[in-house]
Amino acid sequence: MMGIDEKVRKTLAELGVNDAQGVESLFAELRKTAERERAELISRGAPNQPQRERFCKALRDRWLARKGGFLSQVDENWLKPAGKDLKPAVGRQFNELRRFTASLEFEKLVEALPLGSVAARPAPRDLTLPGLRRPLGSIHPVTRMQREIEDIFLSLGFWIESGPEIESTYYNFDALNIPESHPSRDDWDTLYIDSNTVLRTHTSPVQIRAMEKYGAPLYIIIPGKCYRHDNPDSTHSPMFHQIEGLAIDEDITFADLKGTLDFFAKKLFGEKVRTRFQPSFFPFTEPSGEVAVSCFVCDGQGCRVCKESGWIELMGCGMVHPQVLRNGGIDPDKYSGWAFGLGVDRFAMVKYDIHDIQLFFQGDVRFLEQF
Ligand code: DAH
Repeated sequence: MMGIDEKVRKTLAELGVNDAQGVESLFAELRKTAERERAELISRGAPNQPQRERFCKALRDRWLARKGGFLSQVDENWLKPAGKDLKPAVGRQFNELRRFTASLEFEKLVEALPLGSVAARPAPRDLTLPGLRRPLGSIHPVTRMQREIEDIFLSLGFWIESGPEIESTYYNFDALNIPESHPSRDDWDTLYIDSNTVLRTHTSPVQIRAMEKYGAPLYIIIPGKCYRHDNPDSTHSPMFHQIEGLAIDEDITFADLKGTLDFFAKKLFGEKVRTRFQPSFFPFTEPSGEVAVSCFVCDGQGCRVCKESGWIELMGCGMVHPQVLRNGGIDPDKYSGWAFGLGVDRFAMVKYDIHDIQLFFQGDVRFLEQF
C-alpha cells in the first residue's frame, strides 16, 4: 500500500483519482494521518524544553514547510495540475485541509505537548502536605567515649591497632601467660567456638599480635568488642567494649605508666582529679595494679556517682611480664613496657551518669537521641 508521503508526490491522474468522491476520500486519508501524527506526538510527551521544541518543529515542517511540506506538495501535485472538472472539488478539500492543519503550527503544538514522558509524568502535587523530614542520627555514647579516649592517646603519639574478635586460645590466653588452669578459661566464663577458638574475652591478645607484627618500640591503643559468658544485667553484657594500651621501649618504667595514666585521667575528667594506684594481679603484668580516679563529681567527698567512696575505679594495668614480651618476639633484656585495659562502656556510664549498661545496646532512640 502506498503511504501518504508517496501519494503527495504523484498527481491525481497518476493516482487514478478522477471524480469528486475519489478526491474526498483521498483528502480524508490525509486528514486522518495528520490527526494521528499529532495525537501520537502529544501522548509521547517530551523530556525537556529543547526536545519539545525539536519534536514540534519536525512535525510542523513535515506538514507545513513551504518547501517540501505535505501541504505544499498537495498544492503542487494535486491542485495545480487538476483538470477543470476536478479543480473545484480539490480546491474545496484543500482549503478544509489547510484549516484543519492549523493545529500543526509550531506554537500550537508546543502549547499542547506536555513536558515529561507520559509514564513519568508526576501526579498533581498537594503543596499543602508537610515536607519529608529525614531524621539525623548521632554518635552512639559508647563510640563517643571511645573517640574521646583515643584522641588523648593519639595526641601523645600512640596509634590505633585492632585485632580479630574470633580469637585462638593461644593469643587470648597462653601467649598472655594465662595457664590452662586459670578460672577465666572455664566454659562458664568464656564463649568457645571450639576447643581452640573463642570470642575474645579481652583486647589483650592484640598486644601479642602487634608485637609480632611491629616489634619494639611500640606505642598503641587497641579499642574493640569483647565477649564473656555473662547474663545481661545492669552492669553486665555478654558483649562489651575495651581499650587496651601498650607502650614498649628501652628504659620504660613504672613511673612512665603512672605519669601517662595520671595525664590521661586529668585530660578526661578535669585537671583537679587525682589518681590512685593499688596493687593487683594479672598473669600478663608484673607488677600489676588497679587505677582509680578521685570522683570528678564530688571531688572525693562521696556521692552517688562514686558510691560514697570518693573514688572511681578506672582500669587494670601493670608492667608487661617478661614472658609476654618473649612470647611476642621481643627481648625483655633490651626492652620493657607497660600496659592497661579499661572498659569503655563503664567509662561512658560514669561520665554520662547512666545506671544500666543495657541501655547502650537496646537501640531505643529516646535514649540515644540524648547524646
Ligand atoms: N585484660 C584485662 C581484663 O580484661 C584488663 C587488663 C589489665 C589489661 C591489666 C591490661 C593490663 O593490659 O595490663 O580484665
